[in-house]
Amino acid sequence: MSLLRPTFVRINLDQIMSNFRRLQSLNPGQPFLCPMVKANAYGLGDVAIAKALEKERCNSMGVASVEEGMRLRDHHISANILVFGFQGKEACDQILRECLTPVVSNFQQLEDLVGAAKEYLDIHIKFNTGMNRLGFSAKDIPNILNGLFQNPNIHVAGICSHLYDGANICEESSSTQKQIAEFEKIKELFSDSEIVYHLYNSAAMASLYRNKKSFAYGSRPGLLIYGIDPEPEKSVRPLIGPVVQFQSQVIEVHEVAADAVVSYGGTWQAPRDSIIGIVAAGYADGVCRSLSNVGHLLVCGRKVPIRGVVCMDYVMVDLTDIGKAPQDFIGEEAVIIGIQGEEEISVEEVAEKSGRITYEVMTGIGERVPRLYGEVYI
Ligand SMILES: Cc1ncc(COP(=O)(O)O)c(C=O)c1O
Repeated sequence: MSLLRPTFVRINLDQIMSNFRRLQSLNPGQPFLCPMVKANAYGLGDVAIAKALEKERCNSMGVASVEEGMRLRDHHISANILVFGFQGKEACDQILRECLTPVVSNFQQLEDLVGAAKEYLDIHIKFNTGMNRLGFSAKDIPNILNGLFQNPNIHVAGICSHLYDGANICEESSSTQKQIAEFEKIKELFSDSEIVYHLYNSAAMASLYRNKKSFAYGSRPGLLIYGIDPEPEKSVRPLIGPVVQFQSQVIEVHEVAADAVVSYGGTWQAPRDSIIGIVAAGYADGVCRSLSNVGHLLVCGRKVPIRGVVCMDYVMVDLTDIGKAPQDFIGEEAVIIGIQGEEEISVEEVAEKSGRITYEVMTGIGERVPRLYGEVYI
């Protein structure tokens, strides 16, 4: 099927695979590398990305819900799928049916699995080492072991925790160093050498890379897999590359006289006679409304300012300075995130300009925007 609207996101799967390989090569002995493909792989399409990662022999991936895991199984993803959030008996039944790997973070989940597992089941256990979101504490270990003792089908394959400020990992006495000390204490209480211990997110990985430190634990990168820098001002660009091209087209052009206004509320008034291009993407597509009058798009290889408020289906840009006749802009490509000629608008820049974090920019790309992988789109 061809596109009926000129708005799409193109995802560079080769670059995702290369990002994965580069992260793997940071430490060839790395015990565990589990890309996070939750939230539809940060909005980019979980199935296509999981398939690309499997081609790189990636054997573990992380999702947030049982439904996300089931979707990957429905599309024949055979890697270990770690489920970081699940609740209730029914979720346990689905976990067992679909051979998912639950990450257990409380006694209710443990009890439900102990009751449900009639066959061999690998689980990972999550500990809270300071973030105070999910996870057991070290003092829970005797009761966890008691629980596990009641069902020999359950096998602890991994122990993990989550960092709340991973970027400071290389600083002495930092919050992350305190979390690591707590994690080490927990690790010593589990004697099984088969267990994998995983801890690092993208911010921690990027910081270890920049400081040329080795990786003592396994990693669960999200941002870095998708080519996004957790700390843009420090740049890990030589390590990983961007994967997203989000673009649309100029579909209509207006010559507006000085003093005329553009878009709802008339928040922008032309200071001179202007050429305004109408681009077929709005906040329902992921062009955040907070970019109104502050963000840019790329048209004809130039950064052009957004004028007026972003609408649900359209955004208006100022083409006056490009130096072309108004009618010649019709059909011009308009890049929202990505590269055009020498110019680039990165996810990081959009996040900064729109007052959001990169995760929100990515997961905010609208459901109705087709995701294209090479020439195919899903
Ligand atoms: C438990 C867990 N591990 C790893 C990640 C990956 O984080 P990042 O995208 O910062 O690498 C997340 C993301 O929110 C997470 O919740």
